[in-house]
Amino acid sequence: MSDALLEVRDLSKSFGALVVADAVSLSLRPGARHALIGPNGAGKTTLVNLITGTVEPSAGVILLDGHDITHWPQARRVKRGLARTFQINTLFRGLSVLENVCMAVSERRSLSARLWRRADARGDVIAEAMALLESVKLDEDAQRQVRELPYGRQRLVELAIALGLHPKVLLLDEPAAGVPSTESHVLLEAVEALSESIAVLMIEHDMDIVFRFAQRITVLVSGAILTEGTPAEVGADPRVREVYLGENAELRGGSR
Ligand SMILES: Nc1ncnc2c1ncn2[C@@H]1O[C@H](COP(=O)(O)OP(=O)(O)O)[C@@H](O)[C@H]1O
Ligand SMILES: [Mg+2]
Repeated sequence: MSDALLEVRDLSKSFGALVVADAVSLSLRPGARHALIGPNGAGKTTLVNLITGTVEPSAGVILLDGHDITHWPQARRVKRGLARTFQINTLFRGLSVLENVCMAVSERRSLSARLWRRADARGDVIAEAMALLESVKLDEDAQRQVRELPYGRQRLVELAIALGLHPKVLLLDEPAAGVPSTESHVLLEAVEALSESIAVLMIEHDMDIVFRFAQRITVLVSGAILTEGTPAEVGADPRVREVYLGENAELRGGSR
C-alpha cells in the first residue's frame, strides 16, 4: 500500500503523432511540495489536464487518496479534493474580488449563482470567502474590482478560489507567470503558508521560486520524465543543465 495522496502511474497521452505524456509516474504525499519543471512544450500543462480530467489519458492510472480516478469526470475529482489553478488568469475582471471568491464558494456548496444572493445562504458564503481572502492577505482588496488589482494580486485571488474547494491536492500551473518579481514573493509566501496537510504540485519557470518552494523536483522533457530528485540532486544533474542551457533566456522571460 502506498501512502500517497496523489499517484500517477505510467500515464500516457498522444495528440496525433505527438507524444505529450510518455509513461509518466509521479507521487505526492500529504504535505508534499513538488515542482514540475521542463522546457516549453514539454507536456507540463497537459499532465495537469490529465490529472484533473480535462484530457483523457491513452494509458496509465491516476489514484487520488487511494481511489482510481482515471476515468472520473472533473467535478467528481474536485469533490474528492483535487483543485487547480490555471496558467492564465481566469477571473471575472469586472466583478469584485469578493464576488469572484463567493461564486466559487457557492458553487462548491452547490448553490446557484442566483441562490447565493438570498440573505441566509449569502451570509455564510461571504464569511467563508472573507476568511479565504484573509488567508492570502487579500481582505483589504475584497471590494475592489479584479481589474483594478496588480496582476500578482489577481493570481492570489485564483489561489483563494482554489483553496475554497478544500483541496487535499493542489495543482498550480505557473502561478507566477506574468507576475513581476517584486510581486511574486507575496504569492510564494501564500503558497508557503498553506496547510501542511495539502500536497502541492507547482509548475514554475522561475528557478528561484522552484528552488525556494520545492522539496522534490520532477523534470519533464518531451513528455517523459528526465529525472526526479531533491533540488540539490536536480540542480547538480548535468542533463538538466543541458536541457536548460538553450532555454535560459526564455526561462527568465516567462513562458507560453
Ligand atoms: N489539445 C491539444 N491538441 C494538440 N496538441 C496539444 C494540445 N494540448 C497541448 N498540445 C501540444 O502538446 C505539447 C505539450 O503542451 P503543454 O502541455 O502545454 O506543454 P507545457 O505546459 O510543458 O509548455 C505542445 O507541443 C502542445 O502544442
Ligand atoms: Mg504550460
